[in-house]
Amino acid sequence: MNAVNVLVTGGTGLVGSQLIEALLEKGHPPDTIRALVRPRSHIDFLKERDVRLYTGDLLDVDSLKAATDGVDIVYHCAGAVDEKRREAFWEVNVIGTERMLEAARWAGVPRFVYVSSIGVYGLLETTPATEDHPTRPLRPYAVSKLAAEQRVRAYAQRYGLSSVILRPTAIVGRRDRTITKRLVHLVRRRIVPMVGGGRARVSFVHARDVAEAMILAGQSQRAAGKVYNVEGFSAPLREVVQFFIDEVGSGATIIDVPYGLAFAGALIIDGIYAVARRHVHPIRARIGLRQLTRDLIFDTTKIRMDLGFQPRYGMEESFRQAIRWQLQHGG
Ligand SMILES: NC(=O)c1ccc[n+]([C@@H]2O[C@H](COP(=O)([O-])OP(=O)(O)OC[C@H]3O[C@@H](n4cnc5c(N)ncnc54)[C@H](OP(=O)(O)O)[C@@H]3O)[C@@H](O)[C@H]2O)c1
Repeated sequence: MNAVNVLVTGGTGLVGSQLIEALLEKGHPPDTIRALVRPRSHIDFLKERDVRLYTGDLLDVDSLKAATDGVDIVYHCAGAVDEKRREAFWEVNVIGTERMLEAARWAGVPRFVYVSSIGVYGLLETTPATEDHPTRPLRPYAVSKLAAEQRVRAYAQRYGLSSVILRPTAIVGRRDRTITKRLVHLVRRRIVPMVGGGRARVSFVHARDVAEAMILAGQSQRAAGKVYNVEGFSAPLREVVQFFIDEVGSGATIIDVPYGLAFAGALIIDGIYAVARRHVHPIRARIGLRQLTRDLIFDTTKIRMDLGFQPRYGMEESFRQAIRWQLQHGG
């Protein structure tokens, strides 16, 4: 790899940290890798790797300009993924991305790689879903990711900022503080209810495979202006949960809940929210139920054909690494 200067945002997180590891392994000198960190970020991982740290925040455009000046590729991985405060999704993912784009435009950065999410599709009408599937995001997080994609496209159209949008499925790996943590907590219950026999397929991708996709997207001329799904593997939900039960050693039992019963429960939950007229209500339970009982899988022909992307990590290795890290770090 040529010694281009890159800026990685979210370098302390799951994707950004694995991207930095991948760049270093491919021979990128540490002093060509910049990481945007916040004053209170846990930076031990980055310090050990000797990359250049730029203190700032996605909401502080001056700090972003300082970090972006002289950079060839921005890998924008920072984001609000698991927030209690729903406004944070808009602030960090939309406004923060816009400020990052502004800094990249100001610095004349030749390539901007944005990590979006398959959440932008919402309920899938056809599977495996291609990048042309309609986008009807269901949750505030996914709404913010789609709005951020629109900002990325606007900067490309208005200012010629060459960008690539990646839409990974659920990401797992070392330093995953979201999905693996939730699944580990789920299987620590004595009983895990499963609707529809757990036959619906769900898809995941190892963070290192996302990192490889980002590197390919950063280098390829063909990728400019494109959107790509990034999926590593898929499996029936029951198989995923059973794998976690076995690996965690929790001995939980999966209990099948008939769809009709689950639907009645969802109806009651939706009814309570409708009566309470809560200003902020969660995703409608019936939609959540439909999501759990339908395949959530994605077509990756485009990224394979255009960029030669080939995921390396299957289910067992991906989950095993993620679970071990989780258990070692108090999960
Ligand atoms: N995890 C998934 O399953 C998944 C799936 C699809 C797409 N994605 C997308 O992939 C990207 C990376 O996700 P991840 O799982 O790696 O997230 P993560 O582990 O939660 O890391 C988030 C990163 O963003 C940084 N960050 C948050 N707010 C910031 C701000 N205001 N200014 C600067 N940095 C900020 C965090 O820094 P601190 O260390 O300072 O907190 C951290 O480095 C996100 O854009 C996410 O939407 C994730």
